[in-house]
Amino acid sequence: MSENGQGRRKLRSRSWFDNPSNPDMTALYIEKYLNYGLSIEELQSDRPIIGIAQTGSDLTPCNRQHLILAERVKAGIREAGGIPLEFPLHPIQETGKRPTAGLDRNLAYLSLVETLFGYPLDGVVLTIGCDKTTPAALMAAATVNLPAIALSVGPMLNGFYEGRRVGSGTIVWKARSMLAAGEIDYQGFVRLVASSAPSTGFCNTMGTATTMNSLTEALGMSLPGSAAIPAPYRDRQECAYRTGLTIVELVNADRKPSDILTRDAFLNAIRVNSALGGSTNAPIHLNAIARHIGVELTLEDWERHGRDVPLLVNLQPAGEYLGEDFYRAGGVPAVVGELIRAGLIAGDALTVNGKTIGENCANTRIVDEDVIRPFARPLKPTAGLTVLRGNLFDSAIMKTSVISPDFRARYLSDPKDPDAFEGKVVVFDGPEDYHSRIDDPALGIDDRSILVIRGTGPIGYPGGAEVVNMRPPAALIRAGVDALPCIGDGRQSGTSGSPSILNASPEAAVGGGLSLLRTGDRVRIDLRRREVRVLIEDQELAARRKEAEAAGPTYPKSQTPWQEIHRSLTGQFETGAVLEMAVKYQRLAQTVDNL
Ligand code: FES
Ligand code: MG
Repeated sequence: MSENGQGRRKLRSRSWFDNPSNPDMTALYIEKYLNYGLSIEELQSDRPIIGIAQTGSDLTPCNRQHLILAERVKAGIREAGGIPLEFPLHPIQETGKRPTAGLDRNLAYLSLVETLFGYPLDGVVLTIGCDKTTPAALMAAATVNLPAIALSVGPMLNGFYEGRRVGSGTIVWKARSMLAAGEIDYQGFVRLVASSAPSTGFCNTMGTATTMNSLTEALGMSLPGSAAIPAPYRDRQECAYRTGLTIVELVNADRKPSDILTRDAFLNAIRVNSALGGSTNAPIHLNAIARHIGVELTLEDWERHGRDVPLLVNLQPAGEYLGEDFYRAGGVPAVVGELIRAGLIAGDALTVNGKTIGENCANTRIVDEDVIRPFARPLKPTAGLTVLRGNLFDSAIMKTSVISPDFRARYLSDPKDPDAFEGKVVVFDGPEDYHSRIDDPALGIDDRSILVIRGTGPIGYPGGAEVVNMRPPAALIRAGVDALPCIGDGRQSGTSGSPSILNASPEAAVGGGLSLLRTGDRVRIDLRRREVRVLIEDQELAARRKEAEAAGPTYPKSQTPWQEIHRSLTGQFETGAVLEMAVKYQRLAQTVDNL
């Protein structure tokens, strides 16, 4: 590593702003940064230049508070001797982006890699929040390996409706059933759902946003205690200031993502995910981050290390509380503390504040034991994901912790075979097909049917649609059946409490087994053997495959240039659905001197 005259490590930004061997370029690099008031003295003072990757905007309201928090981040950076430069990141709003926000994760990743690599930055603050903003930012930080710290925007305040807690996302599934059953009308539906969002911030349930912000903290990439602070709280402002101070320390210490994102850190995060009752999107995103930093992480790791960890956090959809309650009960440090005392955390994993996760969390205490349960008195004894295989896919996951007693009694109660279920499938080709036909009585859907949706994976419905948790026909709901077993190659919103079998890889669009399934086939789901099989002869399957291969790809035409690029370069959910060609580009910040 090159050093300057005082024996200190030379900052990366010096090769732009202070390079006596190339005065022409130095002057050109500097002049534009002066035009809004920075001085030559600042830019040539050997002070670290810190980027703030801004994900907040009017298009991404979940992260909008970052526009305000950035001022406190900048104050912290200045206080610690750095110079902040804020820049926008491609917007990704989970519920507003068509066809899917998943499509934009890799696009934002690409754009941030290019920005961090190509501009005079010595470190970066990643402003995270809404579902895909967090993995996009961490994946880019992993590829570039520039000193980085994440700042969560924090959850919205708790929502209430008629005195009861109403959680964002989760309420939609309930409101849908109420609308289908005629208990509320369209306006009532919209009002009920809107009551879940009383302030700025991300979804206040244990959906993908709370999960990914919490796991970022568990990975060591954000300050301890920072994930759960609600967006409008004053503590959030203070946390932004501390984040600004800390990124300068990280640069001074040359502490990089590769020092923090170790295999131990990922295994810690997997265990924390189980204790949280985290989203089924977490394996996709963590596996993606791991691939970009070069750490081996597989779905088997999720099952092996996460499956037997108990559910401690009593948040919707698995439990009853919301984001503010989680914060007051102690947040992520309280959960990690319980897991440390249970011997489930590698305590020497380093975090952004220069301390280990053990030093940060060994002595934390739960403040409210109804919201965060002690390890000895969990909400559920095991809460991890089950990985299923069989002749329909190489892998699919299921969050067994959300199987309700009702659902278990209906489908998994055969005394001879208590963990297995067999039924006839009804197959839908994508969400549009599902919506147009689900209430058609001709389909003959009854309470022994299995609903299957395909064409919804990362290639088929580009980015992957969050649609696998399908509601049963309205007539069945009125008869008291509010959930059927569901299987699909798409994702599921983390705010849904449905025990669907999802993320099936390979997906139908690339010839996965689901593409061969036909309505009326019998499928057996065996949770003990962790297997899903269509009960037809191998010869028949082979004949169907031949027919399908002759017919060619089944997904619709790309609507935008990026959809086409994404489809040609993205892998399957099992391996993080990353841009496969991007994985070989690693530690880019360390190569800039060779340009
Ligand atoms: Fe953005 Fe839930 S939709 S956090
Ligand atoms: Mg989502």
